[in-house]
Amino acid sequence: MAALARSVLVTGSNRGIGLELVRQLAASPWPPQHIFATCRDPEGPRGKALKELAAQHTSIKLVQLDTVNLPSIRGAVGAVGSHLKDQGLNLLINNAGVSSHATLRSVDPQEMIAVFATNVVGPLQVTKEFLPLLEQAAKDKGKEGLSCGRAAAINISTKLASLGLCLGVPEAPMYPYRASKAAQNMVTRCLAAELQDKGILCVAIHPGWVKTDMGTEKAPLTVEQSVRGILTVLASLSQDASGAFLDWEGNCLPW
Ligand SMILES: NC(=O)c1ccc[n+]([C@@H]2O[C@H](COP(=O)([O-])OP(=O)(O)OC[C@H]3O[C@@H](n4cnc5c(N)ncnc54)[C@H](OP(=O)(O)O)[C@@H]3O)[C@@H](O)[C@H]2O)c1
Repeated sequence: MAALARSVLVTGSNRGIGLELVRQLAASPWPPQHIFATCRDPEGPRGKALKELAAQHTSIKLVQLDTVNLPSIRGAVGAVGSHLKDQGLNLLINNAGVSSHATLRSVDPQEMIAVFATNVVGPLQVTKEFLPLLEQAAKDKGKEGLSCGRAAAINISTKLASLGLCLGVPEAPMYPYRASKAAQNMVTRCLAAELQDKGILCVAIHPGWVKTDMGTEKAPLTVEQSVRGILTVLASLSQDASGAFLDWEGNCLPW
């Protein structure tokens, strides 16, 4: 059995799903050679758990990356590029995100814009800036089919963004969150269409409702269960999954 990918980068990896992705990747029997665990402030108190994890695994490299700050993204591209030397980045996981429970009554323009900045502009800009490294990885694998081991951009989405399902809107309208993740889904579709001929796979993944700061204790899934499922799904992805919206168990979701 081979590693999921030689190199993986995770955004927002200091807590929640991102931290568990790094933990399970590093602990796997076939870990990636390079795990770029990125977050806004690796040296600050919010980076403590990640720093402790990194101290136990030489494969983990901490990289500062604020997904809404272009100089920070470019700094991260530089750090990752020099670490990989002439090799590309195989797998980019756009996990960083923010929630918002704003209702029609409480929503205001600033909140809409701030949530769109993190959930839509952030992952798009991160993918755009890391594209040369993803293209390099795709090229290195010659004419192999699409997979996370070759080159992929995975966007962590949510079922709440599905226009087809429109789940529980009266109880949880969450205008900024749902609208931003629906927009992120369109970004995923466009990226998939544009990048598949370059050998890069793009997929949206719903992690389930997960016990994290965002998902709260009420969520039915533990972060371990969700991430185990996500990593199993990622390992199974091939050409057919390009532009798909899947959940943590591999089920196809309606856009
Ligand atoms: N939990 C759920 O039930 C659930 C369900 C569906 C989808 N999701 C999605 O799964 C992803 C992870 O969610 P989670 O539950 O792990 O949330 P979480 O516990 O709230 O963690 C969010 C992560 O995103 C980071 N982040 C936010 N803005 C950032 C920025 N500008 N730059 C870099 N990092 C940033 C946070 O960093 P700081 O510590 O610096 O704030 C934190 O590491 C999100 O995209 C979310 O929408 C979660």
